Amino acid sequence: MQMTDLIAKKRDGGALSTEEIQFMIRGYTEGSIPDYQMSAMCMAIVWRGMDDREILDLTMAMMHSGETLDLSPIRGVKADKHSTGGVGDKTSLILCPMVAACGVKIAKMSGRGLGHTGGTIDKLESFPGFVTGISEERFFDNVNRIGIAIAGQTADLVPADKKLYALRDVTGTVPAIPLIVSSIMSKKLASGADVIVLDVKCGSGAFMKTPEQAAELARGLTRVGRLAGKKCAAVITDMDEPLGLAVGNALEVKEAISVLRGETKGELLELCLTLGSCILTEAGFAADDAEARAKLLSVIDDGSALKKLAELVEGQYGDSRAVYDVSLLPDAAVKREVPSDRAGFVRRIEAEKVGLVSMHLGGGRVTKESEIDLAVGVMLRKKVGDRVEPGESLGVIHASSEQKAAEAAELLRQCYTLSDEPVEKPPFIKGIIR
Ligand code: URA
Repeated sequence: MQMTDLIAKKRDGGALSTEEIQFMIRGYTEGSIPDYQMSAMCMAIVWRGMDDREILDLTMAMMHSGETLDLSPIRGVKADKHSTGGVGDKTSLILCPMVAACGVKIAKMSGRGLGHTGGTIDKLESFPGFVTGISEERFFDNVNRIGIAIAGQTADLVPADKKLYALRDVTGTVPAIPLIVSSIMSKKLASGADVIVLDVKCGSGAFMKTPEQAAELARGLTRVGRLAGKKCAAVITDMDEPLGLAVGNALEVKEAISVLRGETKGELLELCLTLGSCILTEAGFAADDAEARAKLLSVIDDGSALKKLAELVEGQYGDSRAVYDVSLLPDAAVKREVPSDRAGFVRRIEAEKVGLVSMHLGGGRVTKESEIDLAVGVMLRKKVGDRVEPGESLGVIHASSEQKAAEAAELLRQCYTLSDEPVEKPPFIKGIIR
């Protein structure tokens, strides 16, 4: 078999066979197929697409390129959640303890943030002493004992995706549904959960800019999940503005805690109830959404979801007192309000740009190796649709120095577009695919 023949076949609109896909992924992972041939193939896939069978074969070939986790020693139903990436997305920190408090096991592999998007693993490291690189034995033991563990993805999980994603990133071949589906689902399937719920973001801060594109991706992801024998659902949500108010690692942890304490409601709680309902019903823990939502709200009301977060933190060597006393979490030296220079209604807050403000403050990585400052970030005070008076604060910059705060304040102001007319907030949840 020759890679050149496979590239030509895809270029001309043909479907690759199972064996051809396996040959290509094996060869690329081992290094016998060079980057230049693989980038030509990715571009052919961008233009020609793949049918469902090819996408499933590609996903399975990538999943088998490295180790897979066998979660069968863990008793009960195991669930995993994945978000396609956003700004201010602290959903996992809320949803996972809520679901675990309802009895569904959470065995989750999470990533670090890169660029303008954050990562759950970095956020969890805001808890003093928290270890994300726990041993497999500890991971299994924690899920069995307390019902939840969230660890960093190991290097051996889907090595094909690590190479391929880096290549796609620099060859203009990220936004192709077959490539995104196989990249995400190979990692989810390798992580071994029985139930997979996906939060597919759409809008200016997401890969998928329109609800139609996001729905197509969501359908692709759930189809592959089901074909691979998993219970799978997807929720399509808005990422035109940041999710919630906090953007920055420790700030997002504080906001997540306030939702788990029942103090913060709104879109963030709504998203967790929607994703959580999908998990509980797919896992057979609730007959319908109404029962699932009631169960999820009850674990907030009785404090058991917050307690589950404390158990998660303690189970991974962190200081769980910080769950009940957030002054123990990292706190920035400088806090600066950002006053609006005019009156109006917030029409737009560019999510990606807010993520970049946090990154410039030191809260995000420029390269995979960068050290990040967990304390810094942005707390928004105004969201789309809100009325703003001149001089009223749009948000607060949390910075390590006055100079950085001043620079970030100017950048945050530029993220906002105000209009003279009242602005209707678009629906936050744009669709659910079951
Ligand atoms: N997230 C991934 O893991 N892979 C993609 O291709 C896009 C988003």
